[in-house]
Amino acid sequence: MFSCTPRTAVAGTKTITAEHLAKGQVVFENSCGKCHDLPNPTDHNAQDWVGIMNSMAPKAKLNDAQHQMVYDYIVSAKN
Ligand code: HEC
Repeated sequence: MFSCTPRTAVAGTKTITAEHLAKGQVVFENSCGKCHDLPNPTDHNAQDWVGIMNSMAPKAKLNDAQHQMVYDYIVSAKN
């Protein structure tokens, strides 16, 4: 299901497991719909999501690991 190679905006190429993405989705759904509707991953490209996540992760009080897994989920959800 992850047929495309990661885009250049993703820092480093690494193996992303389905479990990692599933956790990211849970954090996303629990944390990112509190202040506004849950954003649509396809509304922004992978590069824009870097900046959005940098401003939203502190608002959602995500730790670094959660920040990364939510970002990876959002970007993967585009495919
Ligand atoms: C504490 C409240 C709060 C939480 C939690 C929150 N947001 Fe936001 N979000 C905002 C506010 C306020 C804005 C609009 C103002 C701004 O852009 O800073 C916004 C705007 C956005 C936008 C629109 C940005 C744009 O440029 O169009 C996106 C996308 C977004 N948030 C995604 C997320 C994601 C993903 C998460 C979870 C990691 C999240 N938000 C969690 C308050 C929050």
